[in-house]
Amino acid sequence: MTTYLVTGASGHLGRLAAETLLDAKAGTVIAATRDPSKLGALATKGAELRRADFDDPASLTSAFAGVDRLLLVSTDALDKPGRRLAQHRNAIAAAAKGGVKHVVYTSAPAARPLARGGILDDHYWTEQALAASSLDWTILRNHIYAEISLMGLPHAIATGQLFTATGTGGRSYVTRDDCARTAAGALLKAKGRVILDVTGPEPVTQNELAKLVSTLTGKPITHIPVSGPDLANGLAAAGLPPLLVEALVDFDVDAAQGFHAIVTPVVKDFSGRAPTALADFLAANRAALKAAA
Ligand SMILES: NC(=O)c1ccc[n+]([C@@H]2O[C@H](COP(=O)([O-])OP(=O)(O)OC[C@H]3O[C@@H](n4cnc5c(N)ncnc54)[C@H](OP(=O)(O)O)[C@@H]3O)[C@@H](O)[C@H]2O)c1
Repeated sequence: MTTYLVTGASGHLGRLAAETLLDAKAGTVIAATRDPSKLGALATKGAELRRADFDDPASLTSAFAGVDRLLLVSTDALDKPGRRLAQHRNAIAAAAKGGVKHVVYTSAPAARPLARGGILDDHYWTEQALAASSLDWTILRNHIYAEISLMGLPHAIATGQLFTATGTGGRSYVTRDDCARTAAGALLKAKGRVILDVTGPEPVTQNELAKLVSTLTGKPITHIPVSGPDLANGLAAAGLPPLLVEALVDFDVDAAQGFHAIVTPVVKDFSGRAPTALADFLAANRAALKAAA
């Protein structure tokens, strides 16, 4: 019987992935998190709970004992440059030492080294740590969550203006639910060592997003393309923390360059169902969008 472990099981993606594995009844499912007291519902459904904190390598030695296949959910630790990469390296080292055979890692589109560091650089060096390890792995480069499109929309709906640095570039938004089911599917059946982009069904430009939201809310919204530095100034003036500003601008500029317009069959291949289109996701969130109108 195979033993599966999901890290970060109290996060949105980790929890859904663990639930999907439990529903599949494929083997032993371990839900690992910094605070197992939050995971009573998963335990009730049959998950074993373990404490795993990537900042605490000793916790990983016991958490990963006896695990065959591990879903390593990238963390949200953006408070200090380098912290997240150190966390991921701790997890990979513990997995290799503990006898894990296959790691599925949640990465980002166009992960690559950047001299100034940042989110894409973290993901790239995590991918490199996997490549340098003895492990087999599946790197899932999750494209921008459809949920992220909701972040800037209340302001756009209120002002009628959607500022982005994506130009005319499209984004293959993918729902977090589809990413979680894909990660669970990859944990169950992926083999070898491969990097895959996890995308929605089609790229959507910000002009198209503005039109979709205008139709859903009845409020006219215009997409205003701006440069990366101008977007950074606007987001900083709105009070967003510097590392988040940097990440949002990097992702916009990457979209402008076409890196986010890739479409792959990976969601269908691993989850067994077609990815949700952004238009359907927004329609399902119509009430929240209307509330901002
Ligand atoms: N593709 C996209 O658009 C997009 C957008 C946002 C984020 N992401 C990335 O995708 C990941 C999963 O997304 P999400 O929506 O599930 O994020 P989330 O709900 O914010 O969850 C954050 C995750 O980070 C984990 N974590 C934080 N510190 C940790 C530590 N010291 N050791 C182990 N785990 C730690 C949490 O685990 P516990 O609390 O259970 O310990 C939790 O699973 C994020 O963490 C981020 O890396 C992708």
